[in-house]
Amino acid sequence: MPVNLAIVGCGGMAGSHARNLKDVPDACVVALCDIKRENLEKFHREHFKSDPAIRLYNSIEELVADPPKELRAMLLATPHTVHFPHAMLALDKGYDVLVEKPMVTSSDHARQLDLKIKQTGRHLQVAFNSTFSPEFAYIRDVISRGDLGELQTINAYSCQGWKNAVAGTWRQDPALSGGGQMYDTGAHLFNSIAWLIDRPVTDVYCVLDNKGLKVDINAVMTIKWEGGVLGTATISGNTPGWQEGIWISGDKGRISTGIHGGRLEHFDAKGQLIKYPLVTQPGYTPIGNFVACLLGKAEPRCPVRYGILHSWLMDGLYQSAREGKPVKLTRPPI
Ligand SMILES: NC(=O)c1ccc[n+]([C@@H]2O[C@H](COP(=O)([O-])OP(=O)(O)OC[C@H]3O[C@@H](n4cnc5c(N)ncnc54)[C@H](O)[C@@H]3O)[C@@H](O)[C@H]2O)c1
Repeated sequence: MPVNLAIVGCGGMAGSHARNLKDVPDACVVALCDIKRENLEKFHREHFKSDPAIRLYNSIEELVADPPKELRAMLLATPHTVHFPHAMLALDKGYDVLVEKPMVTSSDHARQLDLKIKQTGRHLQVAFNSTFSPEFAYIRDVISRGDLGELQTINAYSCQGWKNAVAGTWRQDPALSGGGQMYDTGAHLFNSIAWLIDRPVTDVYCVLDNKGLKVDINAVMTIKWEGGVLGTATISGNTPGWQEGIWISGDKGRISTGIHGGRLEHFDAKGQLIKYPLVTQPGYTPIGNFVACLLGKAEPRCPVRYGILHSWLMDGLYQSAREGKPVKLTRPPI
């Protein structure tokens, strides 16, 4: 029996999931939903050859009011602030949820979603692709085995021409985005670190610059994690090209990769470059892992825990930028 899915939000990222679904024979898309009819019909045509067995809906409310029989789960690939109400509704109605990044745009919403998952017993995971890269799998193992020793510092960097590239879209409308480049590409950077070192942040100090727009474009921040790990991150959203990376140092070694993986340098305690073995792991994508989890064949790569860690950090960063001073974070419920 396949996992019957509805895709909510039929834009660019949903297209990427639809392509990945071709390698997930256990899944079957039975519904598509988008508030823009032309996006809905174009998506249906381009990804599903206008298959008449797939039902089209103009809103998630329409979908839950009259769902296809045996609908099991929803993929939410909508603008950021829409994730929370849609995920709550889907869970309430008994569906499992794969939600695009960022999970939600406030720690209060993360807390409510976590409670809802516990109340309903449904499954939710976040579609952060970095957690599927072999490099991230390798680094997480290295850290959890203690091969880097006691973690000391983390530096992370992302620069893109985001300001001009997404001008005029929902990404620069705070009501839909919840924030600027810190919440867009920044979400990959912050979640990547959260997933790799897997601990709460205790203190932050953030300075940001909107460059005259309603959302943040550039930001610099210092971050302290539990265990005394210190870090800096820089988000540059008005720079041509694309450059990014994460550098993690411990007292027994250091390691660096991209914010989505893709490259790796690991130096041991003597400063020697370690040739890392090719990491073998199932060729999961976020949607492949989600479906495998629903069938009891895998563990979720990015469960709600990382959405909580991420939202706590983001609230702290924005509060610090607003107040112009360092902020101490409360401990998230993980
Ligand atoms: N994991 C990644 O690498 C990655 C890359 C790009 C985007 N994303 C994420 O995917 C999500 C969608 O981004 P995108 O690039 O596909 O945006 P997009 O603008 O291309 O598509 C969003 C779609 O959602 C629809 N929509 C808006 N409000 C809706 C609502 N209330 N109900 C139903 N549909 C609605 C829009 O009409 C549009 O078709 C965001 O969370 C984004 O951060 C992730």
